[in-house]
Amino acid sequence: MVSRVIPVDPFDVVVFGATGDLSTRKILPALYRRFFAGQIPPEARIIGAARTDLDAEGFRALTRTAIAEHVGAAKRDPEQIEAFLRCVDYVPVDANGTSGWQELKALIRPGVVNAFYFSVAPSLFGDLAERLHGHGITTDDSRIVVEKPFGRDLASAQALNATLAAHFDEHQIYRIDHYLGKETVQNLMAVRFANILFEPLWNSQYVDHVQITVAETVGVGGRGGYYDRSGAMRDMVQNHMMQLLCLIAMEPPYHFDPDAVRDEKLKVIRALQPAAQSDIVRGQYLPVKGDPARRGYVEDVENPDSRSESYIALKVQVANWRWQGTPFYLRTGKRLRARTSEIAITFKQPPHSIFDEADDSWRENVLVIRLQPNEGMNLKVMIKEPGPGGMRLVQVPLDMSFAEALGEEGADIPDAYERLIMDVIRGNQTLFMRGDEVEAAWAWTDPIIAGWEARGDRPQPYDSGSSGPEDALMLMHRDGRRWREIRE
Ligand SMILES: NC(=O)c1ccc[n+]([C@@H]2O[C@H](COP(=O)([O-])OP(=O)(O)OC[C@H]3O[C@@H](n4cnc5c(N)ncnc54)[C@H](OP(=O)(O)O)[C@@H]3O)[C@@H](O)[C@H]2O)c1
Repeated sequence: MVSRVIPVDPFDVVVFGATGDLSTRKILPALYRRFFAGQIPPEARIIGAARTDLDAEGFRALTRTAIAEHVGAAKRDPEQIEAFLRCVDYVPVDANGTSGWQELKALIRPGVVNAFYFSVAPSLFGDLAERLHGHGITTDDSRIVVEKPFGRDLASAQALNATLAAHFDEHQIYRIDHYLGKETVQNLMAVRFANILFEPLWNSQYVDHVQITVAETVGVGGRGGYYDRSGAMRDMVQNHMMQLLCLIAMEPPYHFDPDAVRDEKLKVIRALQPAAQSDIVRGQYLPVKGDPARRGYVEDVENPDSRSESYIALKVQVANWRWQGTPFYLRTGKRLRARTSEIAITFKQPPHSIFDEADDSWRENVLVIRLQPNEGMNLKVMIKEPGPGGMRLVQVPLDMSFAEALGEEGADIPDAYERLIMDVIRGNQTLFMRGDEVEAAWAWTDPIIAGWEARGDRPQPYDSGSSGPEDALMLMHRDGRRWREIRE
């Protein structure tokens, strides 16, 4: 199967924070891959911007290294790399100072789409918006791309939205949640709304419960300071997991159109019931004995009194007609048994069994959408066990790995950043969060965090390499359910 690459028109994209980690690991390699695919024309301009005093050649050298380190060998074609580097330029700019802005302005071409990627610390987002507008660099058609985290609570998100809104219209603001750029996440919408098969069953009458898992094997690494001020609730649940929940729970939009999709997601967030503290389990990973490289959470963040969680599991109810009575169980954590992200929709058992099976507890159909590794889907169905042994049932997977089903194309799924950056250039906001969505998500999250902060709750310790704290198992057991195994 050959996918169509539709080239975009020439554009200017400015990457603020171009010398940083996200830019060199994700943004620059993603732009190169789209260039390699033929989607970015040679007339496009990629302008790095940061305080470091580099010239264009110096930044090209840095970009070359980023490509060498973060693009697979199959796409590292020397001629293509040199052609791409001819699109690359650099200007030293101070986001909260005065230097560099006139030079930047001189580089932006009138008449082509221009986009400004804010890959800097969130404290600089407002400064960038103000200066871009103040120096007359942006027009009504310019786009700004804002990285996460978007605020740390409702008040700070509202303040940031207000600052951005003072200089840019909502249709110009692209708030990134890279989970939305994943192929399988968009496939979730295709599976639901382009097939007749699932949607009639997609409600509390037929769905027993939903599990969303984002498990990591790594600890907080070098991000300890940032992470400890945030915790898993702010870092993962308020944004990524909430977005996944929305895509599962939302009503069909009237059209696959940015505002139609985001209106439906917003309704889901507003329908979330406040989560009771008894429906939440938080944890912190313990050190691995005898392995100084794998310290415990409090050692990693250098805060023995830390109350932030590296693990959270919670039971969430969407209070509307479609989902009343179907719980959504969310869990995410660091230093867990395996690195895996998945959504599992567990359907109810048939109302009556005509087969004489002693144990029918495992009979439910489960639709699993894997985000990583191996993006794909898997539907567990019951069939007759082959052979002459009578009517015995067995559960088998109808497995669709994109890599297998779509051959080379499927094995070469674009990175989320590739798709999202191209959407910015095309002016498509469907996969970006709207300001009101972000605020609604914080409005739901804030009181939960305030609750455990007020009580001074301490997360429970859990073993590194485990599935999380014991109490998280109880969260499901007491409802007569169990978590899916965390494994790759
Ligand atoms: N890294 C990730 O995996 C990741 C994932 C999700 C979201 N994010 C978000 O992406 C953003 C960037 O993260 P990062 O990890 O790339 O940070 P980083 O490695 O610390 O890079 C920060 C960049 O900002 C530049 N910078 C700092 N102060 C500046 C100023 N006053 N004016 C202009 N440029 C300035 C730095 O270059 P100079 O020192 O040369 O100025 C550097 O290029 C953050 O908002 C982060 O939350 C990162």
